Amino acid sequence: MVTGGTGYIGSHTCLCLLESGYSVVVLDNLSNSSLESLNRVEKICGRSLHFIKGDIRNTKILNDIFNKFDIEAVLHFAGLKSVSESIKMPLNYYENNLGGTVSLCQAMKTAGVFKLVFSSSATVYGEPSQMPISEDFPTGIPTNAYGRSKLMVEQMLHDLSASDTRWSVALLRYFNPVGAHESGLIGEDPRGIPNNLLPYISQVAVGKLKELTIFGDNYSTKDGTGIRDYIHVVDLAEGHLSALDALQSRSGVNIWNLGTGKGYSVLEIVRAFEEASGISIPYTIAPRRPGDIAECWADPTKAGKELNWHAERDLNTMMKDTWRWQIKNQDGYK
Ligand code: NAD
Ligand code: WQD
Repeated sequence: MVTGGTGYIGSHTCLCLLESGYSVVVLDNLSNSSLESLNRVEKICGRSLHFIKGDIRNTKILNDIFNKFDIEAVLHFAGLKSVSESIKMPLNYYENNLGGTVSLCQAMKTAGVFKLVFSSSATVYGEPSQMPISEDFPTGIPTNAYGRSKLMVEQMLHDLSASDTRWSVALLRYFNPVGAHESGLIGEDPRGIPNNLLPYISQVAVGKLKELTIFGDNYSTKDGTGIRDYIHVVDLAEGHLSALDALQSRSGVNIWNLGTGKGYSVLEIVRAFEEASGISIPYTIAPRRPGDIAECWADPTKAGKELNWHAERDLNTMMKDTWRWQIKNQDGYK
């Protein structure tokens, strides 16, 4: 079962699952996505999946799904993800992300399903004093309700696993997912004005937005702009399949960073996008965005060793695939 499977990362993961021969049941309330993503997933791979429109906080729907289908494991993407919105509407974030995960785990327990892969985030590390970030770094204090909801879910899953050894949980800490499937048929389709860098740049490139605002050029980084570990969404999706395999022989909580191990600055991303698209991106420099950290990149060694997984797609591929998706789908899935 894939919760949040019509969303950006979930849809790419559904495609990988189908291509690898899994049968897939998706549960999504479509609060931030369109069912068209899954129509396209089916078109790309020529296989179909089961879609149920519903909410992870709805116990009856969950119980019905577990009764009807022989679910082996749950990949849990469903949740709200906007940092800025979480500051304005914290209760929505705790209710969906934390409450939703409690509800899901209760239904899993009732059904006797104990394998769970959870979409966590590098935000749980807070602001580490050193780079790259490995899994044994202490978790920090995220600067917003979204980040705290992820950290709370992680802590809850630790408690749950400690209470019952049948649980087998993967906490996948994503760095910055970007890009799209090479077909250009599925990709990221943000509602409203994007918060994240790549969707913003792509919309400037097609003329929907006037110019990029770079939040700060006075960090102590190579060119003064923020540094992040951008990871291709298909590499990320493949990481979920590797984690799922690993859970066959592991119990308790397993934490894996999913990143490339390379950090790029905002200006490097702008240049790489310009090169891949042939379009120039106008920008202005503005003050730092509150809550942002200077740099954040992964040490992905643990996932390499334990999952035999490595991110394979380079920066140019990330940019080319982002651009192909944007140019072919100017209004997203609409
Ligand atoms: P997304 O918004 O595209 O996908 C999330 C999906 O969950 C959407 O389809 C939405 O409709 C669904 N959903 C939300 N609340 C639900 C509920 N209560 N019941 C059922 N469905 C619900 O986001 P994404 O970028 O694909 O992210 C997937 C997961 O990965 C999220 O949990 C997110 O917090 C996490 N994550 C994302 C990033 C990122 O930068 N995209 C980074 C780290 C972690
Ligand atoms: C990247 C860099 C910005 C937009 C967020 C969440 C994190 C995770 C991924 C879910 C930073 C700069 C951005 C713009 C800019 N999400 N930037 N102008 O902030 O690293 O991570 O998304 O878990 O929790 O916090 O990603 O893409 O917003 O920013 O200059 O218009 O681009 O300052 O240096 P971030 P991002």
